[in-house]
Amino acid sequence: MKVISTEKSQILAARIAGALNTSIVDVKFSRFPDGELYLAAGELDDETIIVGSVTDSDALVQLLLLIDACEGSKNHLVLPYMGYARQDKRFRNGEPISARAVARLFGRGVENCITVNIHEPEVLKYFDVPTTNLSLAKDMGAYLRSMGLSDPLILAPDDGALGFADDVASVGGWDYDHLEKTRLSGVDVKMAPKKLCAASRSVVIVDDIISTGSTIATAANMLYQQGATEVYAACVHGVLIGGAYVHLKANGIREVFCSDTIERGCSRISAADRIVAALRG
Ligand code: R5P
Repeated sequence: MKVISTEKSQILAARIAGALNTSIVDVKFSRFPDGELYLAAGELDDETIIVGSVTDSDALVQLLLLIDACEGSKNHLVLPYMGYARQDKRFRNGEPISARAVARLFGRGVENCITVNIHEPEVLKYFDVPTTNLSLAKDMGAYLRSMGLSDPLILAPDDGALGFADDVASVGGWDYDHLEKTRLSGVDVKMAPKKLCAASRSVVIVDDIISTGSTIATAANMLYQQGATEVYAACVHGVLIGGAYVHLKANGIREVFCSDTIERGCSRISAADRIVAALRG
């Protein structure tokens, strides 16, 4: 068995290979003169763990090319971050169900698939191969415990993320709750008044994705107005577009961190052990 990865998931893939005590395949990545992606994989084995986050369209194409390069091997796909998963239904006539379109691409060439905190678990039904979704909530809780925060309040930015906040909080037996938000546009979020008391507390806002950071920046401002002593932001997938990290820091977030499903300078949690445990069944 060997591990192979796209360019966007090299570090996580190396961690997975290390935990499995197996080797990682050397892959050369480049482009044709017209911009099309090219890759050439080194020596493969008869069983391969293919690791590739879909962070953008090029990452998706590169992952498809990699799966094709591994033809002839028994392949297991690890999709740490599945981009396009947020368009999980047809909100307006004429729209695609992007999550379905992407999931269907992985119906050939792999035996099974592992996802991590997929945005909407309902999307799993769109995969044509058996797919398991893992959660890093407990790992996030373990990292928070290692930070030594005093009785933190774990907050989900909306009720949809409350179960995730509950799982994070359960690690330390901490309080958890959720805020209410109204999304005004793709980037603007209005936070409605809430009932919980954040005064004189350390607050950790947890979510599956931080994209523009506007949800959490808005929440943080509100929490500071209510007397929170410090606000942290944690997510599984640090999409962090448009200067999101700086936006959060500029809005008083003490520390922003994510996992290595998307490899960032602020990736403090690794999905590797949980993925390896799932691969071992
Ligand atoms: C949405 O439902 C997700 O769970 C996140 O709350 C959202 O993607 C965060 O977006 P942003 O960082 O742009 O506010």
